[in-house]
Amino acid sequence: MEQYVIKGGSSLVGEVEIGGAKNAALAILAAATMADEPVLIENMPDVRDTNVLLDAIKSIGAYVERIDRHTVKINGSTINDLIVENEYIKKIRASYYLVGALLGKYRNVEVALPGGCNIGSRPVDLHLKGFKALGAQAGLSHGRIYARAEKLKGGHIYMDVVSVGATINVMMAAALADGQTIVENAAKEPHVVDVANFLNSMGANIKGAGTDTIRIRGVERLHKTEYSVIPDQIEAGTFMFAAAATKGDVTVKNVIPKHLDSICSKLMEIGCEVIESDDAVRVVASKPLTHTHVKTLAYPGFPTDMQPQIAVTLALSSGTSIVTESIFENRFKYVDELAKMGAEIKVEGNTAIIEGVEKYTGAHINAPDLRAGAALVIAGMAAEGFTVVDDIVYIERGYEDFDVKLKGLGAQIEKVSGEREIQKFKLRVS
Ligand code: EPZ
Repeated sequence: MEQYVIKGGSSLVGEVEIGGAKNAALAILAAATMADEPVLIENMPDVRDTNVLLDAIKSIGAYVERIDRHTVKINGSTINDLIVENEYIKKIRASYYLVGALLGKYRNVEVALPGGCNIGSRPVDLHLKGFKALGAQAGLSHGRIYARAEKLKGGHIYMDVVSVGATINVMMAAALADGQTIVENAAKEPHVVDVANFLNSMGANIKGAGTDTIRIRGVERLHKTEYSVIPDQIEAGTFMFAAAATKGDVTVKNVIPKHLDSICSKLMEIGCEVIESDDAVRVVASKPLTHTHVKTLAYPGFPTDMQPQIAVTLALSSGTSIVTESIFENRFKYVDELAKMGAEIKVEGNTAIIEGVEKYTGAHINAPDLRAGAALVIAGMAAEGFTVVDDIVYIERGYEDFDVKLKGLGAQIEKVSGEREIQKFKLRVS
């Protein structure tokens, strides 16, 4: 089992290139199967989740050509199996995007129930509600999501809860339905807009993505396209808070600053200097950090995927901070791990009350999920002494070359497996 070993105490300084958005790329890879012509996707992050989804797309017969780490060509014309079932696909949340894509194209699909980070119950009721509103029979059976329809007809869907996945899934299925579909209370995340733009580049007719109401007018078929995925706002935000927690000076490059507004505003609130340019943001943490309050909300609010990262930083800031997680019901699992490093955090329901401490001390900890794992690496870099993070497979689901990029910013971090390699690292850096 691979681990990260970190010697804390170095401030992160320098520039880091941000990759393509994982949560846009996963939906775009699934949507690419909806054309019977070649679709070229660029700026795809080379992470475990995208690679697992590509394997699944290949496993149902689609043509998949990996041009390079970040570029792939997909042609859905050779798909010959509408049951997506393999042990890997169950491990990722985004497998369910194949339901919307293949329901739209073939009117019939079954996909193994999605897995994904254990941050809450992760229901799919809104996805099913959306498919049914388009005239499909949809449900769960034999551990799979199934959806099938004689015809798909445009419908009117009100999302009871703002859901990124359900919004995107319904948008895909509706793209090839007859007539107009209206999705109300739609998710507005940048990756929802990116998927809509991608589908439109294939000939779909989608308007209003990025607002509460999305209108999709179904078309006959989708055609080839070449498309580049937007930069990952969460990868960018993770490095920005890493700069803050290590009192560093980091510029994240190849970003869309607008997507980082809520993250920049919180960094400024706790005392960081934030300098924006066209496609980069610089974070300078030269003063002691101070407390603040934050509540995670759907976009444009503060992202739930940045909650562990800001909490780790606030636990090193003076005063009492309050973090409220309003999206998922079990996203504070990292708090017990952080306590081993000296953090003083009390979780009551969906709220964490954080008493800032002077410093963390290194410890042997586990990554409970993707974003919490990245946050614990930030804690290790800010800590005094050595930290070992286990279960980094979670982190590698969503961060490409995480240790390499951090080393490029001056972090003393190594990917290892086992005690011998940990000792070798400690000897080398001591
Ligand atoms: C996507 O998950 C992201 N994953 C998550 O990122 C992200 O945290 C989440 O959106 C919110 O932004 C991918 O895009 C692969 P939701 P998703 O549907 O679509 C409830 C990461 O770290 N809900 O927006 O599963 C749900 O329980 C991952 O990259 C229903 O009730 O999230 C939650 O409380 C972690 N019924 C809320 O909606 C449904 O049918 C938001 O979930 C669907 C969701």
